[in-house]
Amino acid sequence: MAKRKAKNRKIRKSGKSGKKIRGRKTFPSASKEDAKKELKISAIDEGTVIDHIPTDATFKVVEILNLENHSGIVSIATNLQSKSIGKKGIVKVGGKSLTQEEVNKIAIVAPDATVNIIKNYDVKEKIKVKTPDIIDNVVKCSNPVCVTNNEKIPTKFYVFKKEPLKIKCHYCERSMGKEDIEII
Ligand code: CTP
Ligand code: ZN
Repeated sequence: MAKRKAKNRKIRKSGKSGKKIRGRKTFPSASKEDAKKELKISAIDEGTVIDHIPTDATFKVVEILNLENHSGIVSIATNLQSKSIGKKGIVKVGGKSLTQEEVNKIAIVAPDATVNIIKNYDVKEKIKVKTPDIIDNVVKCSNPVCVTNNEKIPTKFYVFKKEPLKIKCHYCERSMGKEDIEII
């Protein structure tokens, strides 16, 4: 880009006369300018787009999906303006479809998220995640003496409030809020 600008400014010499002609200054067209502003994250051809993630959960989604080790394209954007939730995050993962377990985990940190399944650049399916009533083996109990932290027992929580999320451990009855939630 910088190269092109320099070229436009360059003084050209015309023919034999050697008369100096100033390079015509070009202004980008309005549509080009708009496109520049719109270019946020490229579309993906095949894979999954998780949209409408609350900004504070964007990197939790990345963690849940273990994207650090994903070999396909991963695009992460956060603090984007959203009409519905103020600010939002988007995670685009090329060449990956999510398991039900992964969708359930996402629902816990991002209850308003939309999971879009992309095939050949089209949104083939749009899944609205749903906070489950029972959370099995997804969240760690914050009580250090809970049996699940001391024996090989999968955790189990009951969701007694969905917004904001409040859950209760099946084993020790510890209540936990959104801020205490650590995904296993
Ligand atoms: N998307 C993508 N690659 C594609 C198609 C879509 O990355 N080939 C992304 C879009 O950028 C958007 C999401 O997938 O973030 C959903 O696409 P779409 O349904 O077309 O967008 P919206 O109508 O804005 O979705 P919603 O109504 O869920 O807000
Ligand atoms: Zn517990």
